[in-house]
This record gives sequence, structure tokens and C-alpha cells, in this order.
Amino acid sequence: MYEEYAFKVTAAGRVNIIGEHVDYCGGKVFPAALGFKNTVYIRPNGTDKINIKWTTLDGEVTLDINRLDEYKSLDYGNYQAGSLLMWKKAGYPIVGCDMIQDCTVPFGSGLSSSAAIEVSTIAAMCAVTGTPIDRVKIALEAQRAEREYVGVNCGIMDQYASACGKAGYAMLLDCATLDCEYVPVETGDCSLVIIDCKKPHSLVESKYNERRAETETALEILGKKTGIKCLAELDAATLEENASLLSPTVCKRTKHVVDECARVNQAMTAMRSGDMKKLGELLNASHESLKTLYEVTGKELDALAAAAQSHPACLGSRMTGGGFGGCTVSLVKTAELDSFREYVLDKYKRETGYDAAYYRTEIGDGITVEKNVK
Ligand code: GLA
Repeated sequence: MYEEYAFKVTAAGRVNIIGEHVDYCGGKVFPAALGFKNTVYIRPNGTDKINIKWTTLDGEVTLDINRLDEYKSLDYGNYQAGSLLMWKKAGYPIVGCDMIQDCTVPFGSGLSSSAAIEVSTIAAMCAVTGTPIDRVKIALEAQRAEREYVGVNCGIMDQYASACGKAGYAMLLDCATLDCEYVPVETGDCSLVIIDCKKPHSLVESKYNERRAETETALEILGKKTGIKCLAELDAATLEENASLLSPTVCKRTKHVVDECARVNQAMTAMRSGDMKKLGELLNASHESLKTLYEVTGKELDALAAAAQSHPACLGSRMTGGGFGGCTVSLVKTAELDSFREYVLDKYKRETGYDAAYYRTEIGDGITVEKNVK
């Protein structure tokens, strides 16, 4: 049935290796696109309506291309409506079409299923309207949809990785300038492993927005005093000198940002020199900081990271993504992956009662567009 569609367009989920909760502070992040993706099969239908079906859901949603601002409260179809509305507002053509959406990014896992949906939907619209694919522009409008339509005041990392990823490479993305360096993921005799704690999310959006607001408060105060333009420019010594200007909570959040930015640079050096022990230590330190200073982990993610860290073949483990549930990423000796998996899943289940999910996926491409041959 997919042969009847004009294009097959994909965008990826992502894992962030290190650099958490610093993208909206102008920091550097180190995500990679995953083999988990959202695929959109699309064909123009000559009307003003966008008909959306899903491979994983019953039913169909119809969006009117002239009323895209009216679908915020839909359970399904709101991400598509929001991203196409932003694309339209940015001056690009939108036409009526039929879409099938097929998402293999696990929902609510912190692996950016929403970015994959937003980015692939815009890219699919580009395909049917003959608009050249500008990956960065698509990422920026998809981010705007997440912020202005969905209501999560997110940074650019997820949508950028989803659009611009390259198989085999992670991206060292400077979120202040959007300069991006593709770095081969070379982990020697170790593998990066993703495990989902499977705890149902709650209050993620409000807590995420609260953290972001706290970093903005810090920037307002410290910017006036020191002239920094984003928190990622701050160094540890300047923070210490000015700590008394901040509330204890805002100070903790700021310390996380400063330290995490430093860890990203150290992780690059470690990876480039093949120092997996150091990379693992940095993952552990990142988790600790997200737990105690940024306070975005929670009981289950902490239990999962600790279980991983306690296995002898694990060099380091941390939560990845926004937090409050979702996944960990761990650096593990490849030869011992089986015993690692069994040990961690069992220990975690005994401690929390949840069945964690161990994901197998590779580092994949960002946007891909294929013309369907009939
Ligand atoms: C979510 C957001 C990103 C980023 C991460 C935390 O995934 O969408 O912009 O802030 O959280 O690093």
C-alpha cells in the first residue's frame, strides 16, 4: 500500500552522549541520531486537507491547512499541525496531502520521538511541494513548534540531531552558534547501550520549563555583573566569586551548567585519545550532577544508572535527554554485554518493580527522502 505514496521521508530519534541541559544555555552538546525513526509516507491530494493515519494507531485525523492553529489539544496530530503551522508562518508552501506516520522511536523514552515526528513531517511537506530540504531551517521551525505549539520551552539539540544526524557519527553541536562538527563514535572495545527505565512520565513539561527559567534568572543576574551573554560562557571561578548573588537553588543549577560544559570538552579529548575509562568517569559525573545539582533524574533513573555503574564491565552510565524518566546511556565492554544486560535488568526490577527495556539500535541518519517508485 505504501507504493501509492509519492515520497518516503524519515527523521531520527536521538541519544545524547553528554552535554545535558546545556543546549538552552548556549553550551555544546554531543548527540547522535538513532536507527529509531519516524517515517512519513506522503502524497498530495489536491485539497486543503491533510489526512493523517498511523501504523500504530487506529483512526485518522484530518487537519485543515488554513486552520492549523486549532489543533493544539488533539491527542494525535498536534505535533504535525504545530510543525506545519510554523513552516507555513516561516513563508513556505503547505498543500493538502495524505500521510501515513510510522514511528519506531519509543514514546516517552527521552529519545526524542516528538522531534522525529516534527522534523519528518516538515521534511515530507518539503518533498511534496518541491521545497529544497534545508535541514537546519527545518530543525529551527520544528523547535519553534515544540515551544510555541506544544508548550515545552526546549533547546535546539533534539530537532537538530533528528534532522542533521549522520550514520556512524555523533555531533558536537555548539548551541550558541549552531556550528556542528561530526565526530566518529569510536569507543574501542566498548559499546554505548541505551536502557529505558519505563517509568511513566509526569509533569515533565512543567519541570523542564521551570529549570529553563532558573537558568534564565541566573543569566539575568550574572550577565549584568559579568557581561556574559549565555551561561555556557561562565567559568567555575567566576561563578564562585558571584555565587552570593544567586539563590541556593539557582546557584546549584548554574553549577551544573558550568561543570557539564567543561565535561563535554573533556569527553571530546577522552574519545579522541581512546581513553574510555575517562569517558566513563565523565558519564558518571554527569549523572551525579543531574541528580544532585540539576535535580532532573528521579528514583528510577538513579536506580538504573546505579545498577549499570555497579557492573564490572560498565565504565560509566548516565541519564540521557530531558530526564524525569526515560533512558540511560552506558559505556560497556562489548564482550560482556549479555551479562551486563541480564544483571542490570534484574537488579533494577528488584529495586523498583519496573521492567526496563534494553534497546538495540545503531547510530543512523537524520532526514532521508526517497521518491517512491511505483
Ligand atoms: C530535552 C530538550 C532538549 C534538551 C534536553 C536536555 O530533550 O528537548 O532541548 O534541553 O532535554 O539536555
